[in-house]
Amino acid sequence: MPCLGLMAALRPELAAVLDRMPDERRQTVGGREYWLGHWHGHELVVVLSGIGKVAAATTATALIERFGVDRIIFTGAAGGLADGVRVGDVVVAHELLQHDMDASPLFPRYEVPLTGLSRFPTDAALARELIDAARKALADPAGELLDENAALEFSLQTPLVHEGLIVSGDRFVSTRVESAALCRALPDALAVEMEGAAVAQVCHDYGVPFAALRTISDRADDAAHVDFTRFIEKVASRYSAAILEAYFSP
Ligand code: ADE
Repeated sequence: MPCLGLMAALRPELAAVLDRMPDERRQTVGGREYWLGHWHGHELVVVLSGIGKVAAATTATALIERFGVDRIIFTGAAGGLADGVRVGDVVVAHELLQHDMDASPLFPRYEVPLTGLSRFPTDAALARELIDAARKALADPAGELLDENAALEFSLQTPLVHEGLIVSGDRFVSTRVESAALCRALPDALAVEMEGAAVAQVCHDYGVPFAALRTISDRADDAAHVDFTRFIEKVASRYSAAILEAYFSP
């Protein structure tokens, strides 16, 4: 039976999903807990990788090697980089790049040595399914995503779904100076986070379809640490649950 690997870095990013897996059972591998179960009849393995590229890469490898998943989705929060990518919006990656990879002058800046790639593409069909699910969840007025109180507290406008480049690195980007430098270096980058490109590389190596969907928690600016913490405590899990509900429900 096909089995989806579902990853996030931190528990608040997936708490509402874990609460909905009626038959989940846990297995610990390499210091991480893997929840095996079903949702709407789909078999899935859910895991929290922790933060950063190494944690994400080892977790993705275990999902493939030990649990035999045949596709992986990474979800959670990200910092908005491009103009118009606002807190509360959703970004689905077409491709991911490690913004802190630099083996120049041996290899071009951003290229992962010996792969010939700096941008790792996501699976087009899986990404399209996530975009459709996000649009469906965002458009549903009775849905749980746009809770009125949270929308007011975070001044959320009607969320948009963006598609394009997500960049990852082992840094929480928390100054305007740093996010502006990233935007100058990678003008088409929509959002920044700390895991996705590492999982994209693992999935590329194994030939496993991969997609990434992030909700914007902050603008990667001087207020990012405050905005991120409030957002993931109060809103992030609701987003991932609503979008994945739309993805799984018939
Ligand atoms: N994830 C959410 N916000 C982020 C930021 N500003 N930098 C890196 N990863 C993030």
